[in-house]
Amino acid sequence: MSPKPNVRTLRARKRRDGAEPIVMVTAYDQPSAAIASSAGVDLLLVGDSVGDNVLGYEDTLHVTIEDMEHHVAAVARARPDCLIVGDMPWMSYHVSIEETVKNAARLIRAGAGCVKLEGGRKRVPAIEAIVNAEIPVMGHIGLTPQSVHAMGGMRVQGRDVDAATGLLADASAIAAAGCFSMVIEGVPDAVGSGVTDAVDVPTIGIGAGPGCDGQVLVFHDVLGLGTRRVAKFVRQYANLAEGATKALAAFASDVRSGAFPTQAESYESSEELRHAIGTQGATSD
Ligand code: KIV
Repeated sequence: MSPKPNVRTLRARKRRDGAEPIVMVTAYDQPSAAIASSAGVDLLLVGDSVGDNVLGYEDTLHVTIEDMEHHVAAVARARPDCLIVGDMPWMSYHVSIEETVKNAARLIRAGAGCVKLEGGRKRVPAIEAIVNAEIPVMGHIGLTPQSVHAMGGMRVQGRDVDAATGLLADASAIAAAGCFSMVIEGVPDAVGSGVTDAVDVPTIGIGAGPGCDGQVLVFHDVLGLGTRRVAKFVRQYANLAEGATKALAAFASDVRSGAFPTQAESYESSEELRHAIGTQGATSD
């Protein structure tokens, strides 16, 4: 088994240097973390996408630092053989540098090994302050879901030359500020490759084409567990929602018909107990 990835080993994982692509998937709770760890992924992202994938919100903007602490701690209790990335939610790094560093520390104390935050050049002071507090930072540029209103919707970014040039500048700035890696989301494939070529730290793409140093997808999307339409860049490797619906319908049908539970699925009662209670049926405790 390969050793558990850490920020030092991951920082060196550039494909142009012959490294194997990095694999990251989201995890929001103990079972998903245990499953992803058994599957051998490198990084578990406790993403603020917990908001729209698990908590039933329309977007990530309702997710709080308390929500993130709760989910990071649940993932950490799985003791996965992966580096845990704690996603900093909207407004946890926008108000002041002091609050930013304290919020990053809350996710580390909850069990993350590093934090992730969204944004380019304007996030440099926040990144520098967190790194100065000895907390590793993963950047996130391109389509940044916390900026949904500012972007005018969840739109592919960097489509024209000016916007693509801006993303290259963002990537260089956050790498120089100390990010050990960065997510690049929702950009044309040439921008994904261009950013990857431009920086010395690994890029992890989501809807950014095959040229990145790694790829990340949402757990529920990979497994077909979600109830929403998936984006073009998602590849679904299973349809667990369909299997789960069939299984639950079979359970409901068995309960209603009396086929569940059987004697074999019940705790036995002694003759004496049956007699005392005055019943012939199985008892439960
Ligand atoms: O929260 C999340 O799931 C993310 C990924 C889209 C990278 O930030």
